[in-house]
Amino acid sequence: MSLMIDKNMLQKYDVAGPRYTSYPTAPQWSPEVTADTYTAALKAFGQNDKTVSLYIHIPFCEQLCYFCACNKVIRAKEEKVGDEFLEYLFKEMDMVARAIGRRKLIRQLHWGGGTPTYLSEKQSERLFARIKSLFDIDFNEEIAIEVDPRTVTRSKLEVLRQLGFNRISMGVQDFDEKVQDDINRIQPYEQVARVHQWCRNLNFKSVNYDLIYGLPYQTRVTFKKTVDSVIGLKPDRIALYSFAYVPWLSKPQNKFNLEAIALHDEKLDIFLQSRQNLLEHGYQAIAMDHFALTTDEMTKAFNQGLLYRNFMGYTLRPADEYLGLGPSAIGFLEKTYVQNIKILPEYYKCLSQDRLPVERGKQLSRDDQARQWVINSLMCQFQADKKLFSDKFASKFEDYFVQEQQHIRDCVEDGLILEDGQRIVVTDLGKIFIRNVCMGFDYYLRQKDAHRRFSRTV
Ligand SMILES: C[S@@+](CC[C@H](N)C(=O)[O-])C[C@H]1O[C@@H](n2cnc3c(N)ncnc32)[C@H](O)[C@@H]1O
Ligand code: SF4
Repeated sequence: MSLMIDKNMLQKYDVAGPRYTSYPTAPQWSPEVTADTYTAALKAFGQNDKTVSLYIHIPFCEQLCYFCACNKVIRAKEEKVGDEFLEYLFKEMDMVARAIGRRKLIRQLHWGGGTPTYLSEKQSERLFARIKSLFDIDFNEEIAIEVDPRTVTRSKLEVLRQLGFNRISMGVQDFDEKVQDDINRIQPYEQVARVHQWCRNLNFKSVNYDLIYGLPYQTRVTFKKTVDSVIGLKPDRIALYSFAYVPWLSKPQNKFNLEAIALHDEKLDIFLQSRQNLLEHGYQAIAMDHFALTTDEMTKAFNQGLLYRNFMGYTLRPADEYLGLGPSAIGFLEKTYVQNIKILPEYYKCLSQDRLPVERGKQLSRDDQARQWVINSLMCQFQADKKLFSDKFASKFEDYFVQEQQHIRDCVEDGLILEDGQRIVVTDLGKIFIRNVCMGFDYYLRQKDAHRRFSRTV
């Protein structure tokens, strides 16, 4: 059944708001979290047996995509760029491992970017070897890497597979030529199909595509063709991102002709139409903007309420603790978010002075933890269990969230959630507006102008 969405509802909920890859969200983080705070957290982490997820950020890309809001550095392909980067990254890794003081088991490893496959085969091998020299890795778990299908070779994929990578994620975005031209990312269908086939031949356990809806010159008709082509290739997972239009943060987005960008109901229509298309072709909607084949492990985990979320995306493992290495990388350790310096020369400079390159972070108060729990549960499981909340936080859900009762009533009235004494359950309509449902539990959004820094929810 396809969803019909009332235009008034759309107007009401199409506001600026967070994507909740963290709570508290990044604007609440501050330089109060320093290298010393981080070192203390690493030491405390060394005292326990907890396992860890490791994210490594490799910032380089050979060419700029104008829509991109990731932290990246554009460089022509050169061996020395990667070599210099690895020198500093290794230094950071050594300092972090030393502060932990023991070998930890990595339950999830993710190389993201930028474009991690900017590194040569030899450099990728060196990086993997360095990780193995300091950590143990559970190779049965998710070992994932982001690749750019325009530049990755079969030989590089072979090396990655041999190293132990079992999941590939690639940027596809849109197959339409006009859109590709406008976003400065020419990537024909045949190229993606070829890389896809290599991944299959090499037995990667799962292949994910990133798509973006809401890009300039996209229409319902053109994007339907893109989604049809994607369905034909049958990736295991699809991230269908809403174009985050944030020109104040990503200056190249100013190049876009505003009139060519689908907004509000057209943008939502593109999403709903794509969603429906995917649902009719063997995919299930997983949490906010992800789809997976009904046979995929992630779908099974979602259906059993065992899906989790961190900066690497949705995952099958509870990521109590995670480490981030590389410029702009984020970690979460001992109830503290830590983010590295984003600007590459500053990241290098800090490490050359033997300091951990921490820029900012946030130590979670008890209230932050309670709200983080509810928001994570809504985002990953589309529900919040009141009894589990009260067991965990020693307070009845209704007593704790007194101020939120009106928001809950509004969401019920608008058909976004169902509520009873036991649980809040997000409806199909609420899944589309999940960011808005979560926003009512976000303490910090009550501050003046707090919404403004985010992209729009639709
Ligand atoms: C690091 S890139 C993926 C790997 C590789 N660099 C590539 O582009 O093929 C991460 C993904 O973030 C998404 N992304 C980047 N900027 C975005 C924006 N402004 N709005 C929505 N999604 C965005 C894109 O789908 C992109 O594939
Ligand atoms: S989308 Fe990927 S390749 Fe393009 S600029 Fe962003 S990180 Fe680089």
